[in-house]
Amino acid sequence: MSEVLQLEVVPESAAGTVEDFLRAESSAPEVVYRIHQLKQELREKVVILGHHYQRDDIVQFADKSGDSFELARFASQLHDREFIIFCGVHFMAETADVLSAPHQKVILPDLKAGCSMSDMARPEQVFDAWDELGEVIDTSKVCPVTYMNSSAAIKAFCGEHGGAVSTSSNNKAVFEWAFAQGFEKVLFFPDQHLGRNTAYFQMGIPLEEIKLYDQTKPLGGLTPDELRAAKILLWRGHCSVHQHFQPSHPAIMRALYPGIQVIVHPECMFEVVRQADKVGSTSYIMKTVEQAPHGSKWAIGTEHHLVNRLKQEHPEQFITTLAPYACECATMFRITPESLLDILENLKGGRIKNQISVPDTEKRWAKVALERMLEITKRAG
Ligand code: 13P
Ligand code: SF4
Repeated sequence: MSEVLQLEVVPESAAGTVEDFLRAESSAPEVVYRIHQLKQELREKVVILGHHYQRDDIVQFADKSGDSFELARFASQLHDREFIIFCGVHFMAETADVLSAPHQKVILPDLKAGCSMSDMARPEQVFDAWDELGEVIDTSKVCPVTYMNSSAAIKAFCGEHGGAVSTSSNNKAVFEWAFAQGFEKVLFFPDQHLGRNTAYFQMGIPLEEIKLYDQTKPLGGLTPDELRAAKILLWRGHCSVHQHFQPSHPAIMRALYPGIQVIVHPECMFEVVRQADKVGSTSYIMKTVEQAPHGSKWAIGTEHHLVNRLKQEHPEQFITTLAPYACECATMFRITPESLLDILENLKGGRIKNQISVPDTEKRWAKVALERMLEITKRAG
């Protein structure tokens, strides 16, 4: 049964209240006021989605905020709005375009809002690696799985070769699905850390069977025997934001704040995750903190805006970032109230700016890979 989607549209009377201005953070009050006004005027046509890593002065305008999985699922079920304004990064907008209905258009407020991890798996590299692997192992037994944080072209490649997409909240379910299909290996793009953390900590696969495939080296820097023995092959990619959380940080936080719990995103490196009390997607982190008893103490290993928001919203708990400095995703931060306003002003004037349109050739197979993920996640409960 499909979920009933409920959008919170700002009522006319609320547009431009003192509360709105107070939430404005750094934005000029006239920008905030005008966005509320245009949202109201365009409410039949426009929906605004915002990833948890967006700044507060963007999240305040989101009709729906969530992690990458929740926003992708939401976009796939939302058919009554012509325009989906995606406040996130490029691969998320592409995903929304693939999963939305043909009459819908997806807009990214700043086209430079990319993701360095996603750029670490370029289509030509992946195609070459696949061909090269085929000279040593039987690639019909290899399931290519890509993290949501990848281009539509990589998602299409996975779809066409029997694989699927995954996110930080369902990676284990997708890996298990791959093996249940009869595949003998998984080749996972582009985040080595999420892949390793899932395989080892959640599935108990020994490290000897989890191999880093370094795409810059012939055969990924592995011997034919190593390739044959590996169960999980990890593309050499990472998130430059989560890379900042270092193995020394959990112990430092525990020494500074006795009783503190360390909770991290699985894009953090293996040695950080090994020492964490809890690990999970952005939504998992939020729910865990929200449900914790008063007085709980948390050192959180994920993007700064999310940590800061939790800190503001939960004064009854002690919340700090796991690193001694703020780890911010610079590309997520490119989406500003001014760029959002520009999009809305253009839509009001009948112009579509910054539309993200995945070519039909990629769309077909990327959709297959994404729908497999949605189905696997539904079945896994
Ligand atoms: P989730 O939203 O799946 O937790 O992923 C975090 C992320 O890196 C988004 O870019
Ligand atoms: Fe990409 Fe990391 Fe930013 Fe997520 S936090 S968008 S993975 S660079």
